[in-house]
Amino acid sequence: MKTLKDFMRMKHEREKISMLTAYDYPSAKQAEAAEIDMILVGDSLGMTVLGYESTVDVTLEDMKHHARAVRRGAKDTYIVVDMPFGTIGIDESRDTALAIELYRDTNANAIKIEGAHAAPVIKKCHDIGIPVVAHLGLTPQSFGITGYQLQATSKEAAKQLIEDAKLVEKSGAIMLVLEAIPSDLAHAITETLTIPVIGIGAGVGTDGQVLVYHDVLNYGVEHKPKFVKRYGDFSTGVEALKNYHDEVKRQAFPSEEYTYKKQIMNEVDE
Ligand code: KIV
Repeated sequence: MKTLKDFMRMKHEREKISMLTAYDYPSAKQAEAAEIDMILVGDSLGMTVLGYESTVDVTLEDMKHHARAVRRGAKDTYIVVDMPFGTIGIDESRDTALAIELYRDTNANAIKIEGAHAAPVIKKCHDIGIPVVAHLGLTPQSFGITGYQLQATSKEAAKQLIEDAKLVEKSGAIMLVLEAIPSDLAHAITETLTIPVIGIGAGVGTDGQVLVYHDVLNYGVEHKPKFVKRYGDFSTGVEALKNYHDEVKRQAFPSEEYTYKKQIMNEVDE
């Protein structure tokens, strides 16, 4: 398994880091087989696999349930798991207790927390020994305030983001995810920080990239954000399922090939 030490080395040697979300046993197995450097059990699972409207509905129990399945599927990959909406920003001791719970119950390698307001909890976790990945720029848990559009588009907002990035690093974050910000700003922050910076919708100048499994494979998602590239097409699965349905109706399935040869009724006394 790659470790934080490897990710630091990769940053310094300018070897890009690949990160992909996974939410269950098979997607985790695929990510590991593809030698993806790091898996994120993102709270995007709310929309991709649970059919929620947004990440706001995702619970700590949801995260634990899915992260455990991912751990079973990818025993040899570094796994980061999201702290869901409502677990951070209430009270430092309570928030930290929830962070400990998620970290311990999932056997993940790190947790991820959205927003610069989480700096005190990041510090607490760091002091306790929990690796925390910070997440700035577009933080989907705050979509009610920010919307889903490009962030840090004014001079003031860009300066604030640079300050926030420095703050989370100083607080002990081991890595930073930057989402949906101008690529020159993402590059500047990447050059400023000593920790690895992973981008999504932040251009090529970060230390690595993260994408959502269902976006990459066109699997059950309707909307394609600008920054998403499709590398596969699981939407063809519907055609396969239609064929199955049709063959059952026509009794074309199961044919001889899919039927056990053994006959028993001639031995059964009626
Ligand atoms: O939940 C998620 O998938 C994420 C990524 C978009 C970074 O946080």
